[in-house]
Amino acid sequence: MTSVYLNDRFMPLADAKVSVLDRGFVFGDGVYEMIPVYSRKPFRLEEHLRRLQGSLDGIRLANPHGVAQWRDLIGQLIALQAFDDQSIYLQITRGTPESGQTPRDHAFPQGVAPTVFMFAQPLVSATDAQKAAGVCAITAPDIRWGRCDIKSISLLANVLARQQAVDAACAETVMLRDGFLSEGAASNIFVVKNGVLLAPPSSNLILTGITYDVVLELAAAHGILHELRAISEAEVRRADELWMTSSTKEIMPIVKLDGAPVGTGAPGPLARQMDALYQDFKRQVMRA
Ligand code: PDD
Repeated sequence: MTSVYLNDRFMPLADAKVSVLDRGFVFGDGVYEMIPVYSRKPFRLEEHLRRLQGSLDGIRLANPHGVAQWRDLIGQLIALQAFDDQSIYLQITRGTPESGQTPRDHAFPQGVAPTVFMFAQPLVSATDAQKAAGVCAITAPDIRWGRCDIKSISLLANVLARQQAVDAACAETVMLRDGFLSEGAASNIFVVKNGVLLAPPSSNLILTGITYDVVLELAAAHGILHELRAISEAEVRRADELWMTSSTKEIMPIVKLDGAPVGTGAPGPLARQMDALYQDFKRQVMRA
């Protein structure tokens, strides 16, 4: 049976239980990470743990573990799984108020241990055929709060946006705020125009993806022109190429937006080049 980690112990999934008063359940008061694992090696673990620290700082929750301890726990969780390519979900909530404390109070309970939960799922990467076909997306207003840089478990707006895509038989919803591109419901969005790779800069309005950072590093290392700046809705609609990026989707071309073809309506050359660079980079990192 699947082994998961909950509060200092590894156990079968069926035995992992948290209180209904847990702040994650009652308030969505917590943060998370999704870490891809290739051939049992976590990809960009240090960067994920750094972003986790930023999220914890953002919600004023102390990190229950140091980097070395996280590394060890994640290594143990990986070793317990029956499959090699994994996506590790890691969640920390503000914990459960103790008896004698107000069961539900928006303000932080004092002296409560956080709830730490991790589990692994098989990581199913996109096939070459899927990358060659691309996916369709729709647009929707970005109705989220002003701290989208925190990887919060309060994901209702993202959940609704992603379901809108599913209802339209599409893979992703591209969110627009005040006439400008922010990101996807569960991905970052890149635009290619006239050979230049464009993306919104890191800010409180987007979650800076680990994949986003790798793509920009690869662009810089391989002389691909790129610019970080605000991108208008009109530029999104006139893009030569549109990509969604995330730890699980990697670089996935969007070929149709709101029913209209993106560029030629087929994945573009820069998406193919970046995917090849990304796959190479992954292989190098995994060999190291
Ligand atoms: N989400 N923006 C949002 C809103 C996301 O949810 C994600 C990823 C990203 C891309 O981040 P990264 O490249 O680090 O995966 C951007 C994960 C995969 C999830 O929620 O499952």
